[in-house]
Amino acid sequence: MLPATLRKNQPTEYKVRIFVGFLFLVVVFLVGLAYVLYHQKLLQRAYFEKIKFNKAKREMKIFNIAGDIVIRGNLGTTIGYDKVHPCLPSDTRQDGSICFEWMERSRLYMQLYELDSEIQCYNLQWMGLSTGVDPTDCFDMSPASGYWYGGGQLAESTFQLGKANHDFAPFVTGKIETNRWGNILKRYFINSRGAAIVIDNSTPLYVSIRNNTVNNKKELCLKAKYDDFTFVNRITPLPQLNYSICTATNMTKLHSFMAEKKLWDGLRPEESNIIHSLLTEPLWEITAATKHDFFEEAVSNYTYDVIGLGFLKQGHVLLNEFWQEHIGDFTVDEERFPKFQETIEIMHRRGFRIVFTIQPFISTESKNFAEAVKKRLLVSERFSDRRIPALTRYKSLQSAGVLDMTNNNTVPWLVDKLKTLLSTFKFDAYYLDLGVAYNMPHYYQCEKPLINPDQYKTYFINSLQNTVNIFGVNSAIERPKTPTFVSLPMFESSWNGLRKVIPTVLTYGLVGYPFLIPGAVGGDYQSTEGIGDTSFNSSFIMKLPDKDLYIRWLQLATFLPVIHFTHSPNNYGDDSLLEMAKEMTLLRQQTVTPALKKYVGVALEYGMPLVRPLWMLDANDASCHAVTDEFSIGDDIIVAPILHAGVKERDVYLPAGVWKDGIDKSLRKGSRWIHDYRVEQDQIAYFIKMPDDTRF
Ligand SMILES: *[C@@H]1O[C@H](CO)[C@@H](O)[C@H](O)[C@H]1NC(C)=O
Ligand SMILES: *[C@@H]1O[C@H](CO)[C@@H](O)[C@H](O)[C@H]1NC(C)=O
Ligand SMILES: *[C@@H]1O[C@H](CO)[C@@H](O)[C@H](O)[C@H]1NC(C)=O
Ligand SMILES: *[C@@H]1O[C@H](CO)[C@@H](O)[C@H](O)[C@H]1NC(C)=O
Ligand SMILES: *[C@@H]1O[C@H](CO)[C@@H](O)[C@H](O)[C@H]1NC(C)=O
Ligand SMILES: *[C@@H]1O[C@H](CO)[C@@H](O)[C@H](O)[C@H]1NC(C)=O
Repeated sequence: MLPATLRKNQPTEYKVRIFVGFLFLVVVFLVGLAYVLYHQKLLQRAYFEKIKFNKAKREMKIFNIAGDIVIRGNLGTTIGYDKVHPCLPSDTRQDGSICFEWMERSRLYMQLYELDSEIQCYNLQWMGLSTGVDPTDCFDMSPASGYWYGGGQLAESTFQLGKANHDFAPFVTGKIETNRWGNILKRYFINSRGAAIVIDNSTPLYVSIRNNTVNNKKELCLKAKYDDFTFVNRITPLPQLNYSICTATNMTKLHSFMAEKKLWDGLRPEESNIIHSLLTEPLWEITAATKHDFFEEAVSNYTYDVIGLGFLKQGHVLLNEFWQEHIGDFTVDEERFPKFQETIEIMHRRGFRIVFTIQPFISTESKNFAEAVKKRLLVSERFSDRRIPALTRYKSLQSAGVLDMTNNNTVPWLVDKLKTLLSTFKFDAYYLDLGVAYNMPHYYQCEKPLINPDQYKTYFINSLQNTVNIFGVNSAIERPKTPTFVSLPMFESSWNGLRKVIPTVLTYGLVGYPFLIPGAVGGDYQSTEGIGDTSFNSSFIMKLPDKDLYIRWLQLATFLPVIHFTHSPNNYGDDSLLEMAKEMTLLRQQTVTPALKKYVGVALEYGMPLVRPLWMLDANDASCHAVTDEFSIGDDIIVAPILHAGVKERDVYLPAGVWKDGIDKSLRKGSRWIHDYRVEQDQIAYFIKMPDDTRF
């Protein structure tokens, strides 16, 4: 038995012990918390006032001058190592940049350059320090990060990048069906919170848009990586990721700041006439199943039929590459075009302008092939001496060499041929059918190393630009000099194909190509199911498109910068279709062309697209961002076409303001949805902007 005193004291002592123990735990917890907070504070430091960067986790947030977060990123996701150090003095730069190094893995330079009191840009440059660390940075693209746009056409053909889903793929031109990115690209991404990313041309860039495996949030990831085709020529021994992030208080301000301006620089009066003629007159593309169906009388009859229509203007006639016997001859096939000089003269008198398609490819069957090999004018096979030409396939060409435009001797050789041809046949311009990056031979090697196969196009366009008229190109990574137009990719003749037109036009306009040639009314090629890959095969027989599809496509095309036909509306032998086509032509002449012409001036001065997404009218309206099946011409006309088979109504969203209904001429208030808006088969929904003080 214990003494009574002890027994009495025991509970108190017990309580004291518990209390002391508790105090101890609290103190330990507080000290620990203070330690953790202190270190977090130390790690997540602010740089250049507006960047918060946690070096250990490599999490970055950038704020705009109003103090809102505009972009969040997870940087260096492939480093797999947390110990970070300031750079050695020998590695630091004297330009105000901050430098960190993750030992022997990667080094990061960050630098602020302020461009404007309202625009701040930061350059980030990652250098891989060992093989296998391909520098990779990812940016939040979840709905909370705003809407993202830019880059190029995607397989999903969505204008909003957040809806896409892509693993890493080289950021070079291709076909969306097989290569993930389309025929026109720009290394430019922008979000609605007011942040834009521009990646330097020298970066061997891979891009992915996919869910983060940890938190399932959508991310845009940029990676620098060498490979054996797209980024084969190494500028630095290990890949470097070099890009800039620019921020502003709002997206409209930022985008107009980033857009390339003064596109009129060096534009001659006759060149601006070309822009105007393309906006007012159609483009007639003569297609043929095989080159044997493409001959002088067929071309002449085609233009005769156009005149017979009566209501459509003459415009440009685009001849495909089959004017030559073998592609790469650069001479007219005299068997199929015996009196072509006369025929061209007749077509000119009828009021047409004639455009010849050329390609950088020389068929192995062409008489020029042997000469080009002998003179070493062709792209050669890698790992060989320069005498062995590298071969590729393109459209109807089964085997062809590629002119090496980086070689000093090639350009004069080609220019000479093109000039001779022009002076003999007196046509008006050339159309460059350049193919995409993947049409280069796999093991290509040029005289001057290309940083990627797309750079070839820039060489090709630049070396011809000032010597012959270039009407258009079908693939680009840099805007060709005005007035050269850029073609949209070919679209399948299906409702699905029709639905891809608007997102593609909007994306290309946004990334800096205001002067676009949309595909042909009704689509450019037949469905590929069961036939194999025909989308690049111009020799594939294009049947008359489905009538309902043709009608809806024509209505949409009426509002696009250029109206492009392969099949004339006459081919259906349907009077009501012809009647609708007449009405659309009248609408284009009276309403659309004046608006397009008005905004050409804006495009030339400020680089703003003619065909715009609704958010360019009101970037603060979330509904405008959500709508991707409508567009506007400048700020003046909203267009909401029917894009589904057999449908005669749709929902329409109108941005802020007062709008005049194009169908029933009533006035409508903006910032609201019109549900189940009725559109008959011969109609298209469009709305014209009225002054804000218009009274109902
Ligand atoms: C990084 O990109 C910027 C902007 O394009 C460029 O001016 C700079 O020279 C590049 N730096 C390196 C080291 O390539
Ligand atoms: C990505 O995440 C979103 C939301 O967390 C989810 O709805 C979507 O299905 C995911 N996509 C994929 C491809 O996993
Ligand atoms: C964007 O910012 C600019 C200047 O900072 C301002 O003039 C403009 O009204 C703003 N636009 C929107 C849509 O908020
Ligand atoms: C061209 O038109 C003429 C006169 O209408 C006709 O005789 C001839 O068969 C047509 N040729 C072709 C290839 O359609
Ligand atoms: C090609 O021309 C450029 C400038 O005209 C010159 O610098 C270069 O040496 C030439 N290259 C060859 C291989 O002749
Ligand atoms: C192009 O289409 C034609 C006609 O269907 C076919 O004979 C030819 O093999 C195709 N060419 C290619 C390169 O797919």
